[in-house]
Amino acid sequence: MESIWSKTAKGVEHERLSGNISVEAAVIGGGMAGILTAFFLHQKNIKTIVLEASKIGGGQTKNTTAKITSQHNLIYDKLLKDFGEEKAKQYANANQEAIKKYAEIINQQSIDCSFEEMPAYLYSQSQQDVIKLEREAQAAKRLKIGAEFVTQTNLPFPVAGAVKFDSQAQFHPLLFLQAIAKDLTVFENTKAVDVDKNRIITENGTVTADYIIFATHYPFINVPGFYFARMHQERSYVLALKDAQKLDGMYLGVDGEGLSFRNYNDVLLLGGGGHRTGENSAGGKYKFLRSKAAELYPQSSEIHYWSAQDCMTLDDVPYIGQFSPSTPNWYVATGFRKWGMTSSMVSAMIISDAIAGIENPYADVFSPLRFTPSASVKNLAADIGQAVKGLIRQNFTLPKAKLDEIPQGHGGVVEHEGEKIGVYKDENEKTYFVSTRCSHLGCQVEWNPDEKSWDCPCHGSRFDYTGKLLSNPANKDLGR
Ligand code: FES
Repeated sequence: MESIWSKTAKGVEHERLSGNISVEAAVIGGGMAGILTAFFLHQKNIKTIVLEASKIGGGQTKNTTAKITSQHNLIYDKLLKDFGEEKAKQYANANQEAIKKYAEIINQQSIDCSFEEMPAYLYSQSQQDVIKLEREAQAAKRLKIGAEFVTQTNLPFPVAGAVKFDSQAQFHPLLFLQAIAKDLTVFENTKAVDVDKNRIITENGTVTADYIIFATHYPFINVPGFYFARMHQERSYVLALKDAQKLDGMYLGVDGEGLSFRNYNDVLLLGGGGHRTGENSAGGKYKFLRSKAAELYPQSSEIHYWSAQDCMTLDDVPYIGQFSPSTPNWYVATGFRKWGMTSSMVSAMIISDAIAGIENPYADVFSPLRFTPSASVKNLAADIGQAVKGLIRQNFTLPKAKLDEIPQGHGGVVEHEGEKIGVYKDENEKTYFVSTRCSHLGCQVEWNPDEKSWDCPCHGSRFDYTGKLLSNPANKDLGR
């Protein structure tokens, strides 16, 4: 289940941290947001290191579809209503500038990463969505984005309408990341296990830093910040197809199926099957994508498949800036929804400016300290509902499944002497037992048959079938 990016960019290895060091700035997380932030801090002559638990780009960056776009699903009409014209402009300008910044860095450093400028489209096959798409095109135009409503696209089916944004881009994210990391001080295989004031405690030593940047996808510190109460996570799935179609742009459906399309050279990436993390016990997401591939491109063949995980904020705007009111020297970059490339660049611009004492014109709208009750209320209610459900499931109900009813190659939750146990039986008759209590805040993890993983519906932590941690906010494996 390696992505096309991991398969085609191996990169160099960086050493582990060993011992204790002091620096001006320490970035936790070597994904796109972390490495770009360190890159800008390095350009500003601020002595910076990056701590990465595995390999740079080895978290969510390797699984992105790598669209560099300010077209973030239907957002601008909503922003104008919920945040007002000034903040909506900040959001639009920040993301438009992010696209230009990628082009500038790639040109200046002559980075060979298949960067291509092309339009981005939001489309729907349903007439009911046309009004929403027209409103989005008008909102984007009002915010000075080159946008228009169209009814003709290059997709292999008719659409009811689409919003086209000009001058967007796509690239190979890992080739870019590895190129900009080459002059940075990066410690790989160095997991931060705790942060206390200006000290980061890792498994291999302690880092003392004037500024600490959390670029870990989902922050693993619960208090202060309380990010677990302000975000949930979603998963989506991707197939890489050969002999499918060369498109004239990048596409995302806003209708029920929500399919995503983009090319990488002669390969088509077909995405979709999105769901809240922890809510895929029935599975079938890859099967759904394979049936779409067979329907739309019967002559194509699948060469890779993988999945991605995204953090969703309450008001649909990322949290970028000061981590919490009580930690003025901690910064955070999270909640990028499905738009990690431009959001990473925006994070790097805002956070590096803040540390260098430069006022950034876009900082306000992304501030994690903002208060947006009317924009947040719907998602807040859903997130609280999920957390309550996950805790009730773990603490007050018992499963009905029996151990001998679980077939080989499957997992499930069983009861044993009044306790719940997560069970996975592999193809060779080996059985793995884990605690179903999430190591983050104790909700019940659920089996995801598409990924053979234990996923938590509360805040989206994930664990493999042996209980090994795959995704934050948990910072420990499941009990075994
Ligand atoms: Fe928070 Fe599981 S991710 S309880």
